[in-house]
Amino acid sequence: MTYFIGIDSSTTATKALLMNEHGAVLGVASNEYSYETPHPLWSEQSPSLWWHGTVESIRQVLAKTNVDPSAVKGIGLTGQMHGLVLLDEEGQVLRPALLWNDQRTAAQCDTIRLKLGREKLIQITGNDALTGFTAPKILWVQENEPEIWKRVRHILLPKDYVRYKLTGEFAIDCADGAGTILFDLEKRTWSPEVLSALGIPFEYLPKVFEGTDITGTLLPKVAGELGLPVNTPVIAGGGDQAASAVGTGAVTAGVASLSLGTSGVVFVTTDTPAIEPNGRLHAFCHSVPGKWHFMGVMLSAAGSLRWHRDTFAPKTGYDQLLEPAANIQPGSDGLLFLPYLTGERTPHPDPLARGAFVGLTVRHTLPHLTRSVIEGVSFGLRDSFELIKNAGVAQIKEVRVTGGGAKSPLWRQILADILEVELTTVASEEGAAYGAALLAAVGTGTFPDVRSACEKVIQITGTTKPGQNSAIYNELYPIYRDLYPSLSAQFKRLSKFSQTN
Ligand code: XUL
Repeated sequence: MTYFIGIDSSTTATKALLMNEHGAVLGVASNEYSYETPHPLWSEQSPSLWWHGTVESIRQVLAKTNVDPSAVKGIGLTGQMHGLVLLDEEGQVLRPALLWNDQRTAAQCDTIRLKLGREKLIQITGNDALTGFTAPKILWVQENEPEIWKRVRHILLPKDYVRYKLTGEFAIDCADGAGTILFDLEKRTWSPEVLSALGIPFEYLPKVFEGTDITGTLLPKVAGELGLPVNTPVIAGGGDQAASAVGTGAVTAGVASLSLGTSGVVFVTTDTPAIEPNGRLHAFCHSVPGKWHFMGVMLSAAGSLRWHRDTFAPKTGYDQLLEPAANIQPGSDGLLFLPYLTGERTPHPDPLARGAFVGLTVRHTLPHLTRSVIEGVSFGLRDSFELIKNAGVAQIKEVRVTGGGAKSPLWRQILADILEVELTTVASEEGAAYGAALLAAVGTGTFPDVRSACEKVIQITGTTKPGQNSAIYNELYPIYRDLYPSLSAQFKRLSKFSQTN
């Protein structure tokens, strides 16, 4: 038997997953940490946390599963996307990494649009400049920390810092590369035009690989520390969303994935470098060689339900909270919820967008509010699906749902009704780390390609079909859609009174 390790360096923990050659997960070890917010809107983390987490998690998962380490044939990497890691000539970290959820770069996004022209930016990279992405973070350091910028020689993303420590190589995969918006989406590599417009030297950037490529092997000293064979291959892997899509089998055009975590992510594979002309969807490369994907990101999905529970029914379990909501009529008796509790990305890239209950009456009870929250989040996710449909991709036949929210049969049914598509659940709960391990297995020849690996190992555990409530939701959806344009000016005016903006 041979084994593969998937490493996921997320915002909250670094995890190592051990999988055998049949795709069975034998064990997972995780080391948690937090991130810093030294100023409002800032979000930073020390890269040493990911490295420490990697070393500890690999050791722990090997100890716990008791497998023969010499049978580990490959390591695949994934992690939080878009983060900026800056290294000097000696490969030393110059400052804490700026993370994907850092919001300080609104001015730099404007600069990027100005320097390249918004249309051209979208045409080349597939995306508008958003504060979450990497390029504006680089401009922020250029402008605000020139002493640091002078010493920069290497620019990496979080999981690629782990790769550097494992192998000594400066390398990145296409999915994370595209998420920097320094990429030519079609050519799947750095765009000389974007780099030169933004004053970023090409030689600072890592070498680009497809998700299943081998990017290097373990350094002898590191192999010794981890107890793994010298020369263990380290595979490119992918940003967490693309790797997660591999982990749920969303690797072909008709199968989408939808993750209902704190944020909600709709992910659809495309066979061509398709873009949404207004840049309202993210368009990135997939971890599957030669494929791309669209992505819609809602910032508060299951996060909205958590807020609702913590605020209106603290100490109530989710099952207890959701059960009475099943008896409420679809449409929550004329109540709609807008889920923009932490601003929004898709379809309204607006940090000042805010949540709302619209249509409250004295007859509404807690279960009405609960149902309205999950309906509102589901309508917001439909916004992403509508954009994807209108961008002319292949018809979506199946949506694989994952994340905490997907555990609720009520929420799954409401989602299926609102999206009017069949939802399926899959056996593996370890999305991104599992995807990274699968990419490693493909990259080292255990499976011929990603698609056949997914077909072989991913098991469907349940199906939810759209029901008769779709008709009512189709009537309500246009009303939901009209709410943001009606309220956005008011959200902006209100921001003056909010301490977080
Ligand atoms: C994707 C994104 C987040 C981070 C979180 O665009 O910003 O999903 O990758 O880890």
